[in-house]
Amino acid sequence: MPITLPPLTRRQFLSRSLIGGAGLLLGSCARLPAGRRADPHTWALLSDTHIAADRAKVARNIAMAAHLEAVVRDVLAQPVAPAAAIVNGDLAYNTGESTDYATFAALIAPLRAAALPLHLALGNHDHRERFWTALADDATARRPLADRQVARVAAERANWFILDSLDQTNKTPGRFGEAQLAWLARELDAHTDRPALVVTHHNPTTDPTKVSIIDEAALYAVLQPRRQVKAHLFGHSHVWSVKTDATGLHRINLPATAYVFDAAQPAGWVIAQLAPRGVKLHLRCVDPTRKDHGEVKELTWRV
Ligand SMILES: [Fe+2]
Repeated sequence: MPITLPPLTRRQFLSRSLIGGAGLLLGSCARLPAGRRADPHTWALLSDTHIAADRAKVARNIAMAAHLEAVVRDVLAQPVAPAAAIVNGDLAYNTGESTDYATFAALIAPLRAAALPLHLALGNHDHRERFWTALADDATARRPLADRQVARVAAERANWFILDSLDQTNKTPGRFGEAQLAWLARELDAHTDRPALVVTHHNPTTDPTKVSIIDEAALYAVLQPRRQVKAHLFGHSHVWSVKTDATGLHRINLPATAYVFDAAQPAGWVIAQLAPRGVKLHLRCVDPTRKDHGEVKELTWRV
């Protein structure tokens, strides 16, 4: 199942671009130098793409497909090529239609053509079975859990744990469930050699009047005592922020590539440069004239 989409050959890319209408992105692909080498410590982090079947779809005055095209161009234009990308859920516009995923796949095809593996998570606007079916041809990895989209992705300086907080499509709260949290605990305990970075679509909340993750306390009971867990990365709120909890665990809220709910927030993506004892995060805005475009936040891992 397609938790991981492997790179496309040029032939595959061209055929998918023609089917999906991604011809406008060919320019980005053509600019890639032959034999492009990626930096194993640099990761592209995207969230909340909200792609509809119709590329012209506009929500909150934003054309989501145009935003994702701009982000894809920016990822490919980076002087330091990322090793891989994570797209952290709400891939689809609203209800996770099969046709949404066809357009999404066409829009991200240039990344795959550039030899960038993609690790995909699901959000509350995704539909798990339709996602799996739509991308079935790209299945490369066996699912650790039969009914959830989870994975451990090993990097030189971190183990990424990509979780599945989708509970019900187009219903806001997220939920992991006991089986997924038990899998996470086992996997974390089996891989203590490198920093663990845990990625979920839904954000934690400190406001007791708002439920974002139904079993948030159970998630944090797994994360906080395991000192190898250095950061929890999430999306969902369409907010860019970095905080640290009382245990030293970093909470990294990835911006949406699509629309925002608060005009002060950026739409964009984040470059994560992993260091031996921390990470440097670079904000990339869809609107490069924003003051926060290029903002850097440097974090040190707890010990
Ligand atoms: Fe979203």
